[in-house]
Formats: sequence, structure tokens, C-alpha cells
Amino acid sequence: MSPFDVNMAVDAGYQVVVPYTDVDAKLIGPLTQDAIFSRGPKGVAHTGIFIGGRDVMLATDMLRLSREAMVPPFEVSVFADPSGSFTTAAALVASVEWQLRHAFDTCLDGKRVLVFGGTGPVGLIASVLAAQAGARVSLASSRGLDAARSACERATAHFRAALDGADASSAEALQETLQSVDVVFATAAAGVEVMSAQQVSDAARLLVAADVNAVPPAGIAGVGVMDNGKRIGQHGALGIGALAIGNVKYEVQQRLFVQMLAAKQKVYLGFQDAMDMARRVVAERSSLAAA
Ligand SMILES: NC(=O)c1ccc[n+]([C@@H]2O[C@H](COP(=O)([O-])OP(=O)(O)OC[C@H]3O[C@@H](n4cnc5c(N)ncnc54)[C@H](OP(=O)(O)O)[C@@H]3O)[C@@H](O)[C@H]2O)c1
Repeated sequence: MSPFDVNMAVDAGYQVVVPYTDVDAKLIGPLTQDAIFSRGPKGVAHTGIFIGGRDVMLATDMLRLSREAMVPPFEVSVFADPSGSFTTAAALVASVEWQLRHAFDTCLDGKRVLVFGGTGPVGLIASVLAAQAGARVSLASSRGLDAARSACERATAHFRAALDGADASSAEALQETLQSVDVVFATAAAGVEVMSAQQVSDAARLLVAADVNAVPPAGIAGVGVMDNGKRIGQHGALGIGALAIGNVKYEVQQRLFVQMLAAKQKVYLGFQDAMDMARRVVAERSSLAAA
């Protein structure tokens, strides 16, 4: 359970936040039913369940299992965002889509997207969301092609997303891939540079380079944390930095918590809902900026 999520829940209006740790898939049904039966159908409307952890597959299963355990009218809303990955990946993809549309009059459909750190929670969900938007996604691992392919297989089995593996174990292994990419997501562990200034220059087709790592050094050389469409490299790709994406992520998570509290009909919020909300947040911010 992350302190970040506890703070976000309190700031959204929840008055008591009780973390349950070491919860596995078997426990989610009994825990859900313990929560729903304690206050009567009206009182239980003030309760919500948040699913954290770091395993995106397990969290998605838990969201479904918790929903299946409801006994209407004893029912509460549930929101999954393991390690912030659903809201962060959604904010990243929505921010990239916005830059593609406004600077290049295009979209992710048909684009080649390379995802550094794709085996982690944020990278895996960002890969799935980009693939759902029609991109041809290469999910990269610094441990080589086998590790990347194994993550792709898990994502395909669980989320039916078609992803290719990419070898990011050395600059040489990446050279060919980089020449054909249109978009790069840097979603590797905090404080790791995954794309050097030379690699940015070598990527001649690159349109957008988005980095979620806020801990120096930047994940992509030349992308500042607050950048939102700043040109980098000799081919003029647009950089989006971690705090520009983080501001959208924060608002998406805040609004989803508020939606849980306000909803008359109970809501079950996963990464698709985070994606829909992120597109709305980015659109609203851009019209505010234009006004
Ligand atoms: N901006 C925001 O709002 C926001 C919110 C949440 C998280 N974040 C950031 O998002 C990023 C991803 O988060 P996460 O929890 O998914 O990360 P993570 O699980 O810590 O790491 C993601 C992947 O990075 C790769 N990696 C680890 N060490 C590496 C190294 N030395 N060189 C290259 N790759 C390495 C690993 O994959 P391989 O071993 O397969 O390469 C790992 O699966 C982090 O930088 C985090 O700080 C940002």
C-alpha cells in the first residue's frame, strides 16, 4: 500500500483510510464482503475499495473478483491503480496523443512505439494502451530479448494486446530498432538514463519522446521534467517530461477517487477508465491554455 495513494484518497474526501497488506486473490472476495455488509445499503455507499500492490495482472484480477463478490444492494465502488501504473500510463499515453495530434496532425494508430522499462508496471500498461490505440509496440528490456518477450506473452495472455519484444541490453542491440521508431516511452526504474543524446539524434523518424522518470538523470537525455512539447535532438522530436505527465496523472487519480465517492451507481475503475479520464483531462487543460 503506497503512502501516495493514502494521501490521494484523503485529499479526495475519504475520511478514514485503512490499508490491508499481503492480500492475495483468494482474500479479495471475503474482504470485499466484510466491507459491504457492515453498514447497510445506504451507509456502505460511503465506502470504497482501492487496489494497490505492484502486480498489474493480479490487480486487474482483483478488480474483477471484488466486483463479483458484491451482493446488491450491498455494493461499493472499486478502483485499481497498482503502483500508480494505470493512472501514470494513461497520463503518458494521453499526453503523447495530444502532441501527435497538435504538432503533427496524426495519432498513435500505425506508429512504431518503443517502450523502455516495458517489463515494469507503468511500461507494461503503457504498452497495452498504446497497442489498443493502434500502435505497433516494441516492449524493451535491459535484460535482453527473452525477458522482453516473456513480458509480451503475459500481456497478450492477460490483456489480449499484441506486443513485440525488443532487446535494450546494449546500445548496439538497440541501434536498428531506434531507426524505425516514431515514439519513445521511457518508463524504466527511477534515476536511469535509457536513451542518450546520441540515440535521440540517431532516431531520425522520432516525433515524440516521453519520459516518466522524475529522478535525475532524465530517462531521455535532453527532456526536462516540465517539458511539454519542447524540441529535442537534431530532428526536432518533441519531449514530454515526468512532471508534465505527473500533473495529468495526479488529476486523473484525484478525479477517479472523487468519482467513486460521488457515484450513485457503483463504479469499477481500471486502466481503461484511467485512459478515458486522462484524455478528458488533457483536452480540458489544452482548451484552458488556449483560452
Ligand atoms: N511521473 C509520474 O507521475 C510517475 C508516477 C509513477 C511512477 N513514475 C516513474 O515511472 C517509472 C516506472 O515505474 P515502475 O514502477 O514501472 O518502475 P520499476 O518497476 O521500478 O522499473 C521498470 C523497469 O525498469 C527496468 N530497469 C530497472 N533497472 C534498470 C536499469 N538500470 N537500466 C535499464 N532499465 C532498468 C526494469 O526492466 P528490465 O530489467 O526488464 O529492463 C523494470 O522492470 C519510474 O521511473 C517511476 O519513478 C512516474
